Amino acid sequence: MDLGIKDRVAIVTGGSKGIGLAAAAELGRAGAKILLAARGEADLDDAAERLRADGVQVAAHVADAAKAEDVDAIYEAAVAAFGRVDIAVCSAGGGHGPLRTFDWEEWVRLYELNVLSAVALAMRCVPEMRERGWGRIVFVGSTSGREADARWAAYGAAKAALLHAAKSLSLGYSKHGVLVNCVLPGLTRTEGVLAGYQAQAERLGVTADDVEQRMLELQPIAMGRAGESVEVADAIAFLCSERASWIAGASLLVDGGTIRVTP
Ligand SMILES: NC(=O)c1ccc[n+]([C@@H]2O[C@H](COP(=O)([O-])OP(=O)(O)OC[C@H]3O[C@@H](n4cnc5c(N)ncnc54)[C@H](OP(=O)(O)O)[C@@H]3O)[C@@H](O)[C@H]2O)c1
Repeated sequence: MDLGIKDRVAIVTGGSKGIGLAAAAELGRAGAKILLAARGEADLDDAAERLRADGVQVAAHVADAAKAEDVDAIYEAAVAAFGRVDIAVCSAGGGHGPLRTFDWEEWVRLYELNVLSAVALAMRCVPEMRERGWGRIVFVGSTSGREADARWAAYGAAKAALLHAAKSLSLGYSKHGVLVNCVLPGLTRTEGVLAGYQAQAERLGVTADDVEQRMLELQPIAMGRAGESVEVADAIAFLCSERASWIAGASLLVDGGTIRVTP
């Protein structure tokens, strides 16, 4: 399928690894120019190099997407590199924040990381997208925003708020051609998740496979397996595309059948 986004300019936060990097690769393959943003310079440079080797036009900007001043700098870096921004994929996020060890600062930090980072970048991009009458914004939410779990209560609450914010943005700007949607991944075997398995395995004296099996028992997935980054990235790329021209304010589960309730 031709996504119809050749030469569109896309910002991808959380772009050096995992779902963000996979989404950048898919958008790049479709001909978009990419500005990758993440905090760690070495990983970011590696990621940019990998995309360049695939023929993608890419620039990289070291930034913390959860800091207001860095959000401006991310936007400016994309404009400096490619002249404008048409697409924003907000993948920076994560965390846990269990209820059992409630911590005020941690709830604030996870709200800033999972909600404000995305909303602030969207709002930085919206005016010019609106002026041109075309924009695509995709927030990377989580099944945790749909189904509460005390083990990651702060993270889930933040991802739920992100869905709400996406809907507000969508109601505000769809009529101007700026389409805002969310993908809601279930457990996905990203670098971050695999590193978590490994750390847990070392703590418990078991294998990383054992840890994954335990995760699948605790939160069963209808398909019986976790996802891969590229499976989420394909959904993101579609929502960023010309083909998704009648989709606005959607929350697309990409979870192998984790969530059991109907919307
Ligand atoms: N993997 C899953 O099972 C899963 C499930 C549901 C939802 N999600 C969501 O998917 C998104 C991506 O997760 P992932 O599993 O792909 O993560 P990952 O493999 O750990 O990669 C995270 C990426 O985000 C960057 N990042 C983290 N904090 C950042 C910040 N403050 N500013 C800019 N970049 C930042 C990281 O680079 P630096 O650390 O160098 O900044 C890295 O590039 C998150 O929003 C997460 O909540 C993941």
